[in-house]
Amino acid sequence: MMEGSGAAVTANGLTKYYDSLLAVDHITFEIAHGEIFGFLGPNGAGKTSTIRMLMNLIRPSEGSAAILGMDTVRDSLAVKAQVGIVPEVSNIFPELSTLNNLTFTGALYGMGRRNRMARASELIDLFDLAEHQHRKAVELSMGLRRRLAIAMSIMHRPRIIFLDEPTSGLDVSSARAIRDTVRELNGEGVTFFLTTHNMDEANQLCRRIAVINRGRLIAVDTPERLKQAAAESQVVEAVFDRELEPAEVEELSGLEGCSQLLPEAGKYRMRTSDPARILQGLYPFMHRSGIKPVSINTLGPSLEDVFIRLTEGGKEAAGDG
Ligand SMILES: Nc1ncnc2c1ncn2[C@@H]1O[C@H](COP(=O)(O)OP(=O)(O)OP(=O)(O)O)[C@@H](O)[C@H]1O
Ligand SMILES: [Mg+2]
Repeated sequence: MMEGSGAAVTANGLTKYYDSLLAVDHITFEIAHGEIFGFLGPNGAGKTSTIRMLMNLIRPSEGSAAILGMDTVRDSLAVKAQVGIVPEVSNIFPELSTLNNLTFTGALYGMGRRNRMARASELIDLFDLAEHQHRKAVELSMGLRRRLAIAMSIMHRPRIIFLDEPTSGLDVSSARAIRDTVRELNGEGVTFFLTTHNMDEANQLCRRIAVINRGRLIAVDTPERLKQAAAESQVVEAVFDRELEPAEVEELSGLEGCSQLLPEAGKYRMRTSDPARILQGLYPFMHRSGIKPVSINTLGPSLEDVFIRLTEGGKEAAGDG
């Protein structure tokens, strides 16, 4: 294989227009071998369109993509053998049984009968589907169907798997089972590209996260560094034993290090890049005004803060925020 040759996935100015709608706007990124790469963005950001171009299900309007060094359009057959996909809308055959969905998928990938029977029963064990193997897929719950869809996507032992919203709509334990499966396969060297709206999931699973908004990549980094980039959105949240006078609110918002004061339902939230500096000023302030604290908390930036900050920036830039 082309293991040594660069990235697992490369997108180069990848662009998709649907008529005049620019759905994916010249995005460029690389995914390393063995990486779990998260693609995070709000509804309509262009996540599914990007996956569909990488899978050669739709043609890029401009730019190109490569999987294991092979062009997704020119070498589409060779690429197909190396990738698995769990699409946004299930590709399960509802009238086939769990088992037959797997063996049929194997046949579509050109696997011989013996090979696909053996692989199907291996996956039925791995995904804990034994008691459901003879039920029609249409009768399975959503979580079971999602498990089956992932099992189908790896019938042919792909080296790269694309997951489009793998856990949306699942309960906590099914979602966790799917995340565990992703980690397990990743431990065996499988590279993942996964789209999600779920910040927490991206944080838990992904080595790097690309944030996409309105078709544009607005950040690609580790979850930790994305959070650092939003360091100024740390918050010191204070609750006092009485309501503040307007002059006191004024004084509070002028504390050194406070970039913004957000009073909210009896809480005073001070946005800052330096919580310690706020606290230094906060105690003398309370002392001067004869106020006692009920609680004081420091809230670090969450990935959600980063996301909101980045995507709201995008809206402003587009001029309609
Ligand atoms: N086949 C299509 N024809 C026309 N427009 C489309 C088509 N598919 C997607 N779009 C539009 O392209 C944009 C990006 O859609 P896409 O499905 O890629 O977003 P997404 O990030 O996957 O969103 P979601 O989180 O809702 O799944 C949207 O404005 C969408 O309406
Ligand atoms: Mg989508």
